[in-house]
Amino acid sequence: MNIEKGISRYSEGFDQEVRGDTITADRYTSKEWLEKEFANLWPKVWHLGAVTAELEEEGDIVRHNFANESVIMVKQADGSIRAFYNACPHRGNRLVLGDVAAVDRIVCSYHGWQFDPAGTLVEVQDADDFPGGNPCGKVHLTELRCETWGPFVFWCMDDDVPPLLEWLSPYPERLEGYGLENWVRVLNISADAEFNWKIIRDNFNESYHLPTIHPELATFINDGLPDTVFEMYDSGHNAMWMKGHQATTRQHFEAVPTPLDEIARQWDVDPDEYEGRPAEIREAIIEAKRRLGPGRGFTNYHQMSDQQLVDYFHCTMFPNLTLTMSPEQCQILRTEPHPTDPAKCVFQHWCLYPPVEGMETVVTPVGELPLRHDAEARHSVYGDGQSLGFVADQDLSIGTTQQQGLNSRGFKGCILTHQEKRIQRFHELLNDIVLGGPTEPQQHFGGMDKAK
Ligand code: FES
Ligand SMILES: [Fe+2]
Repeated sequence: MNIEKGISRYSEGFDQEVRGDTITADRYTSKEWLEKEFANLWPKVWHLGAVTAELEEEGDIVRHNFANESVIMVKQADGSIRAFYNACPHRGNRLVLGDVAAVDRIVCSYHGWQFDPAGTLVEVQDADDFPGGNPCGKVHLTELRCETWGPFVFWCMDDDVPPLLEWLSPYPERLEGYGLENWVRVLNISADAEFNWKIIRDNFNESYHLPTIHPELATFINDGLPDTVFEMYDSGHNAMWMKGHQATTRQHFEAVPTPLDEIARQWDVDPDEYEGRPAEIREAIIEAKRRLGPGRGFTNYHQMSDQQLVDYFHCTMFPNLTLTMSPEQCQILRTEPHPTDPAKCVFQHWCLYPPVEGMETVVTPVGELPLRHDAEARHSVYGDGQSLGFVADQDLSIGTTQQQGLNSRGFKGCILTHQEKRIQRFHELLNDIVLGGPTEPQQHFGGMDKAK
């Protein structure tokens, strides 16, 4: 028996065929997979490294440690940003040891070689003792590609990967209306976690877990099927549109539930008028936002579609970056691999907000914070009691137990619903890039959904 279709819905034109490869457990548990990812995957993708607000003056530096690699992004005199490997060309010492720096020269702590912000060696000890002559002006830090999109700075280790905007397709165009360029990163938190990086990637590639892991969201996000729309792009990225300002159709609501009733009142919409027809309040809020938003400082609303004004656009970029957009918040969620242990990763959570005039604070996933750059910035260990945001905490709560279960001899490969096809596609792309081709077709329970 083949599962031909489900009740879930994929956008016309943004659906993809899948082969039905088995999603094997070893990709989450084995060192071989981890090492193949380092060899074949991570050098071939763009990595989000910083926000432009951190790199304002010449010599401003942001360091991004990625597994065993370390990259520095450095602001240049001409206003551009360049990226270099964080390794001294003399004998390899790591150069920048803090997360951020602001320097005239990058100075190696070992023998004191000095580099200007453009990465050129400008001063060495005993310059006349080199067989090839004075190396100053001739030796440079090894550079890698660095490009920006909106407020984000990305780097890439490979010269053959398409330019950033092409690689991000279709997001630069699809997200243009939000006007992200000047948004402020208020939240910048991360944690070491005890599961493979792909566990959370899979989680972000489906909404099947919302009723069970995030029951609180049911009152203001409609995760019902077929209301939720899924998209899979040629570029390998995925997306999901979830109706916001509307309760889930998985449950019956007679009246507008809390907190949607409070949100409605904030937009001068009376929730009591929607007794018996609570889903219709979404349209009323669109109208109210259009009418009242500009006067309240939301200068980007006029650029947004109705859908963008009230719904959640959840973008899962291949392989490890998620952006969740609403008109008032851009959430970035990412997992990065541990250098040697497939059962560990780093989880990162940023939140950016539009700079609304007169607004001094914003409500973030960890509570109310001042609307300023990195108002909350910290790194912790998952499980130490520090929240990574209540929804993220819920997602991470399954990570360790899923990792444990995947170690079992009894696990034969995932059995997916139609709405989880983005997971299947993600792993088939990984199989092609990491392994060089498909794994065996999934056999149990009639095989995987191969239909569009
Ligand atoms: S290793 Fe950097 S100066 Fe020697
Ligand atoms: Fe979740």
